[in-house]
Amino acid sequence: MAFTIAIDGPAAAGKGTISRAVAAHFGFAHLDTGLLYRAVGARLLEGVDAVEAARALRAEDLEAEGLRTPAVAEAASKVAVIGEVRQALLDFQRAFARRQGGAVLDGRDIGTVICPEAEAKLFVTASAEVRAHRRWLELTGTGHDIAESEVLADVRARDERDSTRAEAPLKPAEDATIIDTSELDIDAAIAAAIRAVDQRKD
Ligand code: DC
Repeated sequence: MAFTIAIDGPAAAGKGTISRAVAAHFGFAHLDTGLLYRAVGARLLEGVDAVEAARALRAEDLEAEGLRTPAVAEAASKVAVIGEVRQALLDFQRAFARRQGGAVLDGRDIGTVICPEAEAKLFVTASAEVRAHRRWLELTGTGHDIAESEVLADVRARDERDSTRAEAPLKPAEDATIIDTSELDIDAAIAAAIRAVDQRKD
């Protein structure tokens, strides 16, 4: 059985945690598609051409160390505006989405561009302030010394770049269920996501 759950939304809205929990709940495979752009961004920082890096990307590159740093996130957001990079990453994502046993993909354009036919689509969001606070807690918790105001500025800059780019801008699919996690704790957000998928399964 192939069943695709597309989960989109801006940075630090809780998408990753929700996607992993939803995949575990349904016994589906999970792909964090941001890692594809981060892996290409990391290669760009090493001086490799972004389009070449995207075309040469292998599944094991997603396991590389250091893909979660703010510098790589920034580079990922820059390579993500390049149409040829997005095109090069398309087949990998579509093949993953239709694998047997079900798949959860999280990203920015899964419900709109990569898998418009996905059986269930969620758009997970939260206010920029709430997302910046969560990201700041995560970064300082893993030893990064950074001011919350700097994280907020970074979140806003990435939102702006992700939602105004010409190629696959960040926006909910018309038939996506919107989950705003600003006022939800993680358990409530996961429960809302599972409920939304269950409704599409019937
Ligand atoms: O979700 P993330 O922070 O790991 O994403 C890193 C960057 O990659 C983000 O700025 C936008 C881009 N991205 C994208 O354009 N499309 C996706 N499906 C996933 C991520």
